[in-house]
Amino acid sequence: MHRTTTVLGIESSCDDSAAAVVRVGIGGADILSNVVSSQTDLHRDYGGVVPEIAARAHAEMLDTCVSRALEIAQCSPGAMDAVAVTAGPGLIGGLVSGVMLAKGIAAGADLPLIGINHLAGHALTPRLTDNLGYPYLMLLASGGHCQFLAVTGYDRFTRLGGTIDDAPGEAFDKVAKLLGLAQPGGPSVEAAASEGSPSIVLPRPMLDREGCDMSFSGLKTAVLRARDACAQGGDLSSRMVADLAASFQAAVVDIFAQKTDRAFAMYQTLFSGSAPAFAVAGGVAANQEIRQALRLVADTHGVRFVAPPLALCTDNGAMIAFAGAERFLHGKFDNMTLGARSRWPLDASQVPMLGSGKRGPKA
Ligand code: KG4
Ligand code: ZN
Repeated sequence: MHRTTTVLGIESSCDDSAAAVVRVGIGGADILSNVVSSQTDLHRDYGGVVPEIAARAHAEMLDTCVSRALEIAQCSPGAMDAVAVTAGPGLIGGLVSGVMLAKGIAAGADLPLIGINHLAGHALTPRLTDNLGYPYLMLLASGGHCQFLAVTGYDRFTRLGGTIDDAPGEAFDKVAKLLGLAQPGGPSVEAAASEGSPSIVLPRPMLDREGCDMSFSGLKTAVLRARDACAQGGDLSSRMVADLAASFQAAVVDIFAQKTDRAFAMYQTLFSGSAPAFAVAGGVAANQEIRQALRLVADTHGVRFVAPPLALCTDNGAMIAFAGAERFLHGKFDNMTLGARSRWPLDASQVPMLGSGKRGPKA
């Protein structure tokens, strides 16, 4: 009989408390349970994630998520091979809750503890869902991050480019706020866009520049100006909201499509002409228009395209459990000194992106 590896994964880096059990064997990975407790309702009135509210909600909900994940998987903690937990980057209060809980479980059930970089969790998801082999090209696009990565191993990521200011999910959230749509902005902008036409002219920043760096902050400001021009001091009609949402989404789609084309070229230079398998992950990859456009780029190049199911694109515990299993199989463990890190770049060899702020590189 082949040995399998079963890992409990815990995620609490932003506004989703999540836990999952994943079993990895010779033929691939099985998600035995995947429990997510979203805090969307708690943050709705504030127009964004409030770190203090998030931290308290994680402290309250994580135990329940873990118990539920073990129950659904029909496993006791002792049946796990390891406990994996997101140790960064993200909001420190939630990360500390997750790390403390994971330490408690590891100590109580005498299990190895494994700290996971949240971005690595997203970046390895195509292996969890589609058994994708290394190397591959990845577009990671979420509420806090955006980068093209060449993924060459379970802890080897080369950043080819990324946003120099806002993350695209952040831009979706801010545009939703400007248009009076619900948070999180991605799904509500996508829904509004499906009712409108991309008839308003908006910029596509940085398409005139070499490489695959991107910028979303100017686009958001352009939406603000276009909104004010449309409204002319009055209220926005639902038609205008739909057209503005559709125009914004179309600009993001164009930026991603063209920069993906460039990322393919960079990848091919890096890997002496070999075509990349191309995968997407992160909350923004849940957007159907964006997925379709990226699939088209991949098809044009004859490249395999992998887009995980929506629930595994947004934050979840299964990706953390799977990343934990990969580290477990390479004998990479942490111990009780594991700490939470609000900033933790995946590719530390690269110069920090412009939007990284004074406290150091975010991603
Ligand atoms: O990966 P994720 O769940 O959390 C982070 O690590 O940030 O991504 C959340 C982000 C939010 O900004 C949300 O508005 C965006 O992903 N998002 C979307 C869609 N669904 C979620 N953006 C565009 N279209 C969507 N359908
Ligand atoms: Zn995420």
